[in-house]
Amino acid sequence: MANSVNIPQFPQAFWGDSVSLPEFPKLEESIKTDVAIVGGGITGITAAYLLTKQGVKVTLIDAGDLLNGVTGHTTAKITAQHGIIYDELIQHFGEENASLYYHACMDAKQLIEDTIQTYQIDCDYRQEDAYIFTNSDAYISKLQTEKQAYDQLNIPGELSSSMPLDIPVKSVLRMDHQAQFHPLKYLKVLVDEAVNNGLEIYEHTTATDIEYNKHPTIVTRDEHRINCNYVIQASHYPFYDGQGFYPTRMYPERAYIIAVKTPEQFPGGMYINAESPSRSVRLANMDGEDLWLIVGENHKTGQGKSTMKHYEALQQFAEKQFGISEFVYRWSAQDLTTMDKVPYIGSVTKNEDNVFVATGYRKWGMTNGTIAAKIISDRILDKDNPYCELYTPSRFQADPSVRKFTRMNADVAKHMIRGKLEYTNDNVKDLEPDDATVTRVNGKRTGVYKDNDNQLFAVDTTCKHLGCEVNWNSGDRTWDCPCHGSRYSYTGEVIEGPAKEPLNKVKLE
Ligand code: FES
Repeated sequence: MANSVNIPQFPQAFWGDSVSLPEFPKLEESIKTDVAIVGGGITGITAAYLLTKQGVKVTLIDAGDLLNGVTGHTTAKITAQHGIIYDELIQHFGEENASLYYHACMDAKQLIEDTIQTYQIDCDYRQEDAYIFTNSDAYISKLQTEKQAYDQLNIPGELSSSMPLDIPVKSVLRMDHQAQFHPLKYLKVLVDEAVNNGLEIYEHTTATDIEYNKHPTIVTRDEHRINCNYVIQASHYPFYDGQGFYPTRMYPERAYIIAVKTPEQFPGGMYINAESPSRSVRLANMDGEDLWLIVGENHKTGQGKSTMKHYEALQQFAEKQFGISEFVYRWSAQDLTTMDKVPYIGSVTKNEDNVFVATGYRKWGMTNGTIAAKIISDRILDKDNPYCELYTPSRFQADPSVRKFTRMNADVAKHMIRGKLEYTNDNVKDLEPDDATVTRVNGKRTGVYKDNDNQLFAVDTTCKHLGCEVNWNSGDRTWDCPCHGSRYSYTGEVIEGPAKEPLNKVKLE
């Protein structure tokens, strides 16, 4: 942890640094189970908790450590205010479905709250109002239209020209009765409960494929097999597509988070602006002290400016608006957005109804992950769930999907071609420590990183998913793919899919 007003050198999320989680072994043999869950984030753990509570035999695997993926890097707002969305939902899905979307989120909040009550979980849970604010004239009317949607859907809230957080605003839309918490303190208790109820967990176990059958079998990188009745893919990006064409139906975005102490008193509330660059503010509790989480600078993965510039922009914002007395953490997160902004939760394809996906949460993983866990566990337990239809991945809303689909895939095609031609003529010998370059080695586009001990790591920059070229992310020291968001460590190991295989290593003479 840093103790200065400067940006910490290495990224680290506050959540993981403030909780110690149990460790679990790697899967070393082939096994059978009833439900196999891939991914130990909020979706997988909540589903495991709900299913084991009903006596179902569940096995959960994670490619890395539990809760070290998107859930460990969230801002942990438990809210139905997912940006400006309700007017758009009414236009594209109709009033009834827009109302279902709101109620699905509020039911997820209730489930979290009830679970906290039941186990008396000390996870800094706080009821807060949520605010969308703007300083852009173009967004004033959008907030007015969104408020009309709130009224139509009976969502409690208010439009005004001020808010408790003292920063300049032109218009503000409040949604009442939302919440925030410490997600890892909460989920740690769910892990304990599920393990007590028989959950088996294997960490550092990567699923690479599913052999589809009435009883599907997950194949792991070490060639072990998990034979089961149901698979839940809760791994952010589904590792098994089943011809559902998920890479063409979602796009990845990165966002940046800084955690700072300021001389100001936090007035309560959770805040996000409507325009770009995005800015969001909430409070967290660090050993009884206030920690301000300031979030923003979203951009498509692998397509932003130098990543440290994003942290600097947040730092400048925080400094100007509140002052920084201590810069404690910085980290980043990756989110997937579907074509119509509603997550894909349900059977991976119409024909494979015992393999589930849960993905495309945009930035709203706490509510959407809980909704997904409830929908999928209800499907497995054969219980009715009013939200199944709304989130089903096989829906296809022609408008606005087709336009967005074309735009998204044209963007992928552009990067597929352009990336191949973009490299420097840098001599790797001239690289500074902790810096990277993309150059040519033996005629091939090669990414080279030099660590602080002057050791060089060279990788072939061709992404193992569909062949786009990865770019350097200086903030996280990763190679990020601009096409569908695969991310690799500087040694080439997969950090985030859809890629399943590491980048090829390149030998430097
Ligand atoms: Fe699809 Fe890289 S993630 S090509």
